[in-house]
Amino acid sequence: MQGKIALITGATSGIGAGFARRFAADGYDLIITGRRKEMIRSLADELGKKYGVRVEVVLCELSNRDEIESLAQRVSGEPGIEVLVNNAGFGTNEFFHNEEFSGQENMLSVHCLAPMRLIHAALPNMLARGKGTIINVSSLRAFGAGRRVAVYCGTKSFLNKFSEAIHIENMGKGIRIQALCPGFTRTDFHERIGLDTESNKAGFVRWMPVEKLVDISLRDLKKNRVICIPGLWNKLMILAQSLMPAGLYYRIAPSNGGLKE
Ligand SMILES: NC(=O)c1ccc[n+]([C@@H]2O[C@H](COP(=O)([O-])OP(=O)(O)OC[C@H]3O[C@@H](n4cnc5c(N)ncnc54)[C@H](OP(=O)(O)O)[C@@H]3O)[C@@H](O)[C@H]2O)c1
Repeated sequence: MQGKIALITGATSGIGAGFARRFAADGYDLIITGRRKEMIRSLADELGKKYGVRVEVVLCELSNRDEIESLAQRVSGEPGIEVLVNNAGFGTNEFFHNEEFSGQENMLSVHCLAPMRLIHAALPNMLARGKGTIINVSSLRAFGAGRRVAVYCGTKSFLNKFSEAIHIENMGKGIRIQALCPGFTRTDFHERIGLDTESNKAGFVRWMPVEKLVDISLRDLKKNRVICIPGLWNKLMILAQSLMPAGLYYRIAPSNGGLKE
């Protein structure tokens, strides 16, 4: 690849596909990762034809250390990577003690280890060029806790603090980093864990389209906002949560934000 490159993990659908579309429209060549082969290849074809950019697909299981490592080697060997979006992720819908431990370990790997390793591989090249953008797709859940999402909340909370620390270490060196903390966003995420996306048990659910989320993320990046909470409703939810006595919050925090199974 010759031009500026954006690497986006988990670009098969949803938020990752949204970032892929946006960066392709902005003239970036893409490296996109995912596991659903036909879907991601068809996205790559579509974007290549529509925007005249090169799109490379890397089929990659990010719960597998060897596959993370081989992607990281690809990243270190590609100094043209200007943008890294660590987006791949998945949800849970079960109490911690009831879920297979291997699944929890996989989440740790996809949400934490993979972003750490890829940033470790990309950052030296970005620093050498004096320019680079890193977006870690976190979640509003980074600020709270809840039932059936124990490891999810922990891993996303890690991503926020980790992003802030990387920002502090690299201030003034041309690196922009963001932990993007979406609330409910229309993607495949909730249906994949058996939740009814039309339900709204506790009345807290407000859906945001992916395109709007991507707009807000990129706008906040320009303002150097490291922690990006997209939209007024999501900001109000976090504010209300922070003002609430912990005991009250523990009692009313709904499972999966109030979506029914
Ligand atoms: N949607 C929301 O409301 C919401 C809210 C807060 C945060 N988020 C975060 O947003 C990110 C993107 O999710 P989404 O909503 O766009 O859901 P999505 O449509 O299900 O997309 C998830 C992407 O991650 C990839 N992925 C999942 N597990 C993986 C694994 N083990 N190895 C490699 N790739 C894997 C998927 O690849 P394949 O499908 O090809 O396997 C897919 O491309 C996640 O980090 C999620 O935690 C979403």
